Amino acid sequence: MKKNGLIIAIDGPAAVGKSTMGKLIAHELGFLYIDTGAIYRAITWKVLKNNININDEDMISGMVSNTCITIKKINTNTLKDYYHIFVDEENVTEKIRDPKIDRNVSQIARLPKIRRQLIHLQRKLAEKGNIVMEGRDIGSVILPKADIKLYFTASEEERIKRRYKELIDKGYNVDYEEIKKQIVQRDEIDSKRKCAPLIKAKDAIIIDSTEKAIEEVKDEILKIIKSKENAGEKLIENNII
Ligand code: CDP
Repeated sequence: MKKNGLIIAIDGPAAVGKSTMGKLIAHELGFLYIDTGAIYRAITWKVLKNNININDEDMISGMVSNTCITIKKINTNTLKDYYHIFVDEENVTEKIRDPKIDRNVSQIARLPKIRRQLIHLQRKLAEKGNIVMEGRDIGSVILPKADIKLYFTASEEERIKRRYKELIDKGYNVDYEEIKKQIVQRDEIDSKRKCAPLIKAKDAIIIDSTEKAIEEVKDEILKIIKSKENAGEKLIENNII
């Protein structure tokens, strides 16, 4: 009989590489991967599309109650196209990466009513285990009993460079200084908000990816997971290693 699956929670600031690494680890272990930032981005996309004031908590909350967000894993081996996210059946996977979403998402994510509405959805997604979930409050609020908690860091300069390159590669005409301003601002709002701020959970392990190659960080994380008491056992029980 299948035992309780393993739960891996990843948190950290903007553009720190949580998504790249989260997908890679999930792929390596055959786990489900949930990017909770994509959920906040999807809501922001709909708010902007409907010209709703980003400070109108009640209006946004009403909109969220009437919105269907679904995440579908895509059968592909390319990590770039790992899952698709839908808002009321419209595929918004690419649209939520637009810099205008970056400019507004933290204003909406700081609203307590919206965060409360999303707790249930996120916990439900993680229910069966064998999952990597990443965001800002996963280890602290959403999944406090996660088997493994990782807190990602990297120097601010490196994070800005990574996000700038990512957007340029996607064809967006962005300005380096503007990206820098947005990342600094987003981190500030995310870590200073009252409700579920970005925080390192007490029992989270810090992963600093500054000047490290992707493969190096991946190996470091897999080693941590396999050697952690209970986690390694769960992987064996579930026939993962
Ligand atoms: O990929 P990047 O690090 O730029 O951001 P993201 O993970 O896509 O998250 C976008 C925004 O959603 C964050 O800046 C937060 O404002 C919000 N967010 C949050 O508040 N809580 C989460 N668990 C995940 C994201």
